[in-house]
Amino acid sequence: MAPEYQTVEKILTGPAFQGPSKAEHVLELDKKTPDSHVPRDERLVRLTGAHPFNSEAPLDLLYNAGFITPSSLHFVRNHGPVPESTNDVLDWEIEIDGMVERPLKISLRELIEEIEQVTLPVTLVCAGNRRKEQNMVKKGTGFNWGAAGISTSLWTGFLMRDVLRLARPLRGAKYLCMEGCDKLPNGAYGTCIILPWAMDFDRAVMLAWKQNGALLEPDHGRPLRALVPGVIGGRSVKWLKKLTITDSPSKNFYHIYDNRVLPTMVTPEMAKEYQKWWMDERYAIMNLNVQSITTVPEHDSQLKIDGSPDQSFTIRGFAYNGGGIRVGHVEVSLDGGSTWRLASIDYPEDSFRETKVEELFGGEIDMYQRHLCFCWCFWDIKVSVSELANANGILVRAMDVNMSPASKHVLERVFDAYNWWYRVAIRKEGNILRFEHPVLPALQKGGWMDRVKAQGGDILDNNYGEETNESVAKKGAVKKEGPSLINPDVLNNIISHEELQKHENEQSPWIVVDGQVYDVTDYLESHPGGPESITMVAATDVTEDFMAIHSDTAKALLKKYHIGTLASAPAAADAESTSEPPGPVFLEPKKWKTLKLTEREVVSSDSRILTFKLEHPEQTSGLPVGKHLFLRAKDTNGYVMRAYTPVSSHKEIGEIRLLIKVYFPNKDQPGGKMTTLLEQLKVGDPLEFKGPTGSFEYHGNGAVLFRGMKSTVKRFYMISGGSGITPCYQVLKDIAENSEDTTEAVLLFGNRYEDDILCKSELCRFEQMTQGRIRIKLWLSGKMDQCNTQHTPGRIDLQIMDRELSHMKEGHDSMLLVCGPEGMVETAKTWQKSRNIEDFRVVYF
Ligand code: MTE
Repeated sequence: MAPEYQTVEKILTGPAFQGPSKAEHVLELDKKTPDSHVPRDERLVRLTGAHPFNSEAPLDLLYNAGFITPSSLHFVRNHGPVPESTNDVLDWEIEIDGMVERPLKISLRELIEEIEQVTLPVTLVCAGNRRKEQNMVKKGTGFNWGAAGISTSLWTGFLMRDVLRLARPLRGAKYLCMEGCDKLPNGAYGTCIILPWAMDFDRAVMLAWKQNGALLEPDHGRPLRALVPGVIGGRSVKWLKKLTITDSPSKNFYHIYDNRVLPTMVTPEMAKEYQKWWMDERYAIMNLNVQSITTVPEHDSQLKIDGSPDQSFTIRGFAYNGGGIRVGHVEVSLDGGSTWRLASIDYPEDSFRETKVEELFGGEIDMYQRHLCFCWCFWDIKVSVSELANANGILVRAMDVNMSPASKHVLERVFDAYNWWYRVAIRKEGNILRFEHPVLPALQKGGWMDRVKAQGGDILDNNYGEETNESVAKKGAVKKEGPSLINPDVLNNIISHEELQKHENEQSPWIVVDGQVYDVTDYLESHPGGPESITMVAATDVTEDFMAIHSDTAKALLKKYHIGTLASAPAAADAESTSEPPGPVFLEPKKWKTLKLTEREVVSSDSRILTFKLEHPEQTSGLPVGKHLFLRAKDTNGYVMRAYTPVSSHKEIGEIRLLIKVYFPNKDQPGGKMTTLLEQLKVGDPLEFKGPTGSFEYHGNGAVLFRGMKSTVKRFYMISGGSGITPCYQVLKDIAENSEDTTEAVLLFGNRYEDDILCKSELCRFEQMTQGRIRIKLWLSGKMDQCNTQHTPGRIDLQIMDRELSHMKEGHDSMLLVCGPEGMVETAKTWQKSRNIEDFRVVYF
């Protein structure tokens, strides 16, 4: 059904205009909130719980209400409580100050007496409209707008330029700052636009006091609000109290931290950390961008195929744009975007331009003098039902007359202004076509994005959960982007599961990646993570872990070891779950196991201790001293996996404690992937663990097992940097806490600043407990004025290694353990090579 287009003639003569408001009563839900004085329409969908009130109408209701939205269905964006406005609206005063010749205070009554009024249809849109689609793909900080954060009203009031002229702006003034009177945590809501827009007749910036012929609804700014046509709703300040003319942008908190699109490489975490991203006025969103949305077919509606070749269906929707620039094209595709057809567009706003009526609601309809477009338009296109039946979705995109197109992909916009192609899925059930919109607003379940996600599919495939030629081709193309892991000469060599199982051993391990079998025996010795991290997964499918942890260079190496394709899966084993009771140790080398975070202790600004309760109070981790475990968590791009050494010892029962140094985002780069995920972990959240892994174990009293060889060490040397302390810490702790262990240890520990030194007090305690058998030597590489000079300044370089590790060159009873950043490890390797130290005496964690 096409919506009723209310022209000015129809508004004056007929029932097409549904009147100003149907919100007559205060709803029960609101009675318990600071908005207990605000009547509302219960059909609005609340996006942020009961309070503050942020809401949109159901999309079909909004569309069917027609060109002018009834005031009670107009979307609402309130940052906080609605101010208790006086009912005597005419006494409402605003102040105009700043760079003006004549600062003044003026009441609404005086404005009405002094200034001619206008009535204009203007569409307001929230910059966050359609954010739920973005949040489904990648959760940002904002709440879940559907596609109905848009509404059109007939606004009556004064042109801003007429009001400002009363105060006479001075030369050099550049901005119009506006402030409301709402009581928010960071002061009243305020923002600005450039002064030339406010003074421009065409731009039609207004101060409105009537909406659809009645006083403004309390939610929409009663008694007086600013209205900036063609610009995101966030610039139209409600409950307006103050206009200030300035030569610099508004410093209001909400102007700076709201309604901005930061550059695409700035993640929300980086933006949180570095305020400078918010300070650049170029990133403040002003004009709306081009947008088109399908409304018919409605979400969850059905169409019966009657089988006749003539059966047709009209797809409909609305579109809008910013800056007064007309929407020029609306295009629809039924084949996933390969071909497009042109929809027709109706611009009901033009009927106000062309009307013979001169006045409405006490204001002049001066649209005939204006060429700019400030309202939504409606599009439709007739298609045959047989075409719809062969399609899996309806795509729509718009372009304005400046030829600025909508975005193609969801992730092109991550901070508001979301205008990618709108996609409605078509699902066939016999002779019924069922339509699914992408999302439902707020936390409501429903929509194809929700369904695809629940099925474990990829929303970004845009195939609505179905395998299509397009998605298969896309998958192939994605694979081709990384290095190939396949040797085409061996592809036809089919390897059975029995054969694979024979290689579940340490001597000749095979692994499976993406259905292909690799004999990695020859790679064991050169594997940087040690042979054990391969042998522990021998004869298993390691696709996810391999892909999560390896660089493209490492992936490219695998091709050399490709020996064939794994035969299709053997008959499914008994699917009965064999859930065994948890054993005495937690870790299992071939199985990811989940633990929940039970405690999160902030040790310093960037280090945390995360405690995870084991499966039962008597259980130990099962991690020998010197070995590490893998942690795995999922972000939007798949699994992230890293090796960690806990600070809790292998003897402790009931819990594992991890010391985490958080690599926060900085101005140049996003934060560490895993530490960002760990930092977001809340008590009760799960994390996956697997292990142990590593080629080194310390068995106490100097006994070590390294790469399968046992030996006895009299003295350990350790070089470690930053969070690389944890494996060395484990060994030192074991020595210190065993009164019979007489092994010596010297730790060379590099950090940037004193505050960065992890476990410092425990390390000092180990020195005391062993009366100096353990010695800790610290280097600080940060600026010296920020460092305590009792530590040696600078990095642990070749010269220092040579001096401190001189004993290593002589006897075979010492061993070097290295764990730190890449540069430090490389220096240690150079030193080892130049001094001919045997490989079996140096452990690189
Ligand atoms: N003005 C004040 N004083 N307080 C607010 O919270 N929200 C802004 C703007 N003006 C806001 C405000 C935002 S972000 C939008 S999108 C529009 O008001 C919404 O206007 P509406 O609630 O009338 O639809």
